[in-house]
Amino acid sequence: SLHSACAYRAQLLYFVADPATLEDPSDAVRYHSDGLLLVNEQGQIQACGDWPELSRTLPADTQTVDLSGKIIMPGMIDTHLHFPQTDIIASPSSGLLPWLETYTFPAEGRFGDSEHAREVAGVFLDELLRNGTTTALVYGSVHRQSVDAFFEESHERNLRMIAGKVMMDRNCPDYLQDTAESGARDSEDLIKRWHGKGRQLYALTPRFAPTSTPEQLAACGELARAYPDVFLQTHVAENKDEIKWVNELFPKNRSYLDVYDSFGLLRPRAIYGHSIWLDEQDRARMHDTGSIAAHCPTSNLFLASGVFDFQAIRQSKVLHTLATDVGGGTSFSMLRTMNEAHKVARLNSYHLTAASMFYMATEGAARALDMQGQIGTLAPGAEADFIVMDPKATPLMERRSTMLNSLEEQLFMLAVLGDDRCIQASYSAGRCVHQRDH
Ligand code: GUN
Ligand code: ZN
Repeated sequence: SLHSACAYRAQLLYFVADPATLEDPSDAVRYHSDGLLLVNEQGQIQACGDWPELSRTLPADTQTVDLSGKIIMPGMIDTHLHFPQTDIIASPSSGLLPWLETYTFPAEGRFGDSEHAREVAGVFLDELLRNGTTTALVYGSVHRQSVDAFFEESHERNLRMIAGKVMMDRNCPDYLQDTAESGARDSEDLIKRWHGKGRQLYALTPRFAPTSTPEQLAACGELARAYPDVFLQTHVAENKDEIKWVNELFPKNRSYLDVYDSFGLLRPRAIYGHSIWLDEQDRARMHDTGSIAAHCPTSNLFLASGVFDFQAIRQSKVLHTLATDVGGGTSFSMLRTMNEAHKVARLNSYHLTAASMFYMATEGAARALDMQGQIGTLAPGAEADFIVMDPKATPLMERRSTMLNSLEEQLFMLAVLGDDRCIQASYSAGRCVHQRDH
């Protein structure tokens, strides 16, 4: 879909390195207080820099949008959430396993109905875009139709999305079970249909070890080897009761993570939701295999799952990202997720900076997913998935804005006070896909 080139004038912000690894974290940031972002006809970023210099090089007829006072940054990347749980967000329960039984499984049971799946996928994608998230790693339900429906909606909007059909062949209601064979066959069919079609990418999605037989995990491992550039997503070490259950089901394995390891599921582009109750050996395996830990703070607090060990994850240099885990998570907003991530890290005696959190939600996630240069950045050549943030979206934020002394303080204020109200617009491949009305 071709459209004309467009120049945007605003503050520009993106990351070129991980601030947590630099002596001077500000070296990781590219910030233009009066910037120009030029998007070309192909929906890619053509140029990004200071308005005074760059604007002189623009052809006279270039369409220009003045967003002075606003911040343009890359669209955010949510690395773990469930679209069939959209309608059960904020359901009360005493913890993960009762929550799955009472709310999650019955809700997911409805996604064999393509029409229902399509309707909810549309609502879900609109909600992501309202919150400034332009790429997400998304679980479908066990039904292949649910993933067809999701990708159809995403493809129609030309969004860069990653999704997969849940595989589960035991310990769940009959109406949600596949088999080792049908789960693998349906997954492979979906890979062939969707992986690389437009901007859609596939993720093998064994729900978690308790709901898969060893045969199913083995079949998933075969697909993971056969399709190395396909993603893989699952849950690990989220909750104490869950871990006890895994130990009973897989008594020969050293740990929960080791179950996945023994089936060849640790590898680059494998994303492990939660990753709370890991030990040193587990973290070493995640690091050595290039696997990714997706931290889901709103979910971990809501379901009282535990405190993610930022200190240890960073010491062992495990790739790690932020995620909402909707509907176990309580918000679609990556800003609200940052707010909770900061507090969880505090409980772990770790100071998680705003720069680090914004990095994790953009460039850091792109790097972890091996999509560097493609998304999560405003650097020329990248896909023009970006958002316009209003740092004064509420009276309190406007007031607080007059007392900021640094970019870190600005970003920290956005992370702690911000939500969908700050997302003035979202763009995907250069096209406006959300505009907040005032
Ligand atoms: N573990 C297995 N399935 C799920 C799920 O849907 N949500 C969360 N938070 N944990 C899980
Ligand atoms: Zn989850």
